[in-house]
Amino acid sequence: MKTYRIAAIPADGIGPEVIAAGLQAIETLAKRDGGFTLDVTQFDWGSDRYKRTGALMPEDGTEQLKKFDAIFFGAVGAPDVPDHVTLWGLRLPICQGFDQYANVRPTRILPGISSPLAGVGPGDLDWVIVRENSEGEYSGHGGRAHKGLPEEVGTEVAIFTRVGVTRIMRYAFKLAQSRPRKFLTVVTKSNAQRFGMVMWDEIAAEVSREFPDVRWDKMLVDAMTVRMVRDPKSLDTIVATNLHADILSDLAGALAGSLGVAPTANIDPERRYPSMFEPIHGSAFDITGKGIANPVATFWTAAQMLEHLGENAAADRLMRAVEKVCEDGTMTPDVGGTANTQQVTDAVCDAIRGSNI
Ligand SMILES: NC(=O)c1ccc[n+]([C@@H]2O[C@H](COP(=O)([O-])OP(=O)(O)OC[C@H]3O[C@@H](n4cnc5c(N)ncnc54)[C@H](O)[C@@H]3O)[C@@H](O)[C@H]2O)c1
Repeated sequence: MKTYRIAAIPADGIGPEVIAAGLQAIETLAKRDGGFTLDVTQFDWGSDRYKRTGALMPEDGTEQLKKFDAIFFGAVGAPDVPDHVTLWGLRLPICQGFDQYANVRPTRILPGISSPLAGVGPGDLDWVIVRENSEGEYSGHGGRAHKGLPEEVGTEVAIFTRVGVTRIMRYAFKLAQSRPRKFLTVVTKSNAQRFGMVMWDEIAAEVSREFPDVRWDKMLVDAMTVRMVRDPKSLDTIVATNLHADILSDLAGALAGSLGVAPTANIDPERRYPSMFEPIHGSAFDITGKGIANPVATFWTAAQMLEHLGENAAADRLMRAVEKVCEDGTMTPDVGGTANTQQVTDAVCDAIRGSNI
């Protein structure tokens, strides 16, 4: 029997609510499966810790996480702590420290959930967005001079390296190759940004030659938003920079019904370090403590985690259970339902226990 060591970092806002739901679902799956168990360690890292001690996680935080097979993460961000402090104090040090350079964000319309796009239903929107997750616009390079003075300047430098771009293109082409349509869209902004983005395009063309069976096209990021809304069926696998994919995947989540159903996996494809699995959404201050956070994004990222661990049958069973529960109409208010987080979670656990495949 395999045992997976999972580091759970629920952190802030609705993070603890959805991570509790996710853990309940994967514990139920482990029991149903019988082939693996989970050894979960909880970490109290986040904004409360920051307010108490001045740091969101301990100095040796990433060192402590190294021994785990995967990290299950909620959300970070508090109304009374600046967002750049929380993001750079917890989530980004883990993503960058563990070189989780491929951020994988599947989006599709689940049965029973309505897209805000008229006439678009399950099967019409089925995408995977691959976000470059280690450099680009979020590399952390920049600074401020003459702080507070009229002549103050601030720079935010986007860093693109040949190594970084090549590896994410290879990952995206390979993923596109594994999907039935074998089709990749490379998002760019090389009309306005003449250096990093032109190199991005050139490397995409170079890497494409390694994948002759994958069709691909190129879109400027602004036009891409229009295509996602007007012609969702024309897209399949998508690769974009750290910033572009960050924005496009929120749009993707909304087009698939709600941010509450959108998952993400921060992957170290070389498996040198643990990968991290989280819902796309943030701490959602407006619904924290109300018990109505949609746990579906967290279930979906838990399925990505199980797949990464090699438990494909359990991952499929979890997604089938989620789809059944959505189809039956047990949903939270963000997707038009009246159920609360616990009711959706219990329904998914029942569906897992009742599944006969
Ligand atoms: N990965 C992360 O940890 C992460 C990601 C995004 C934002 N944040 C942080 O979260 C805080 C709030 O940010 P925001 O309001 O821009 O984004 P958000 O994702 O927290 O919320 C945006 C909207 O979506 C709704 N929503 C989000 N998740 C939902 C769910 N599971 N169920 C139902 N509704 C849901 C919220 O109620 C809100 O109306 C900020 O501090 C921000 O920095 C963290």
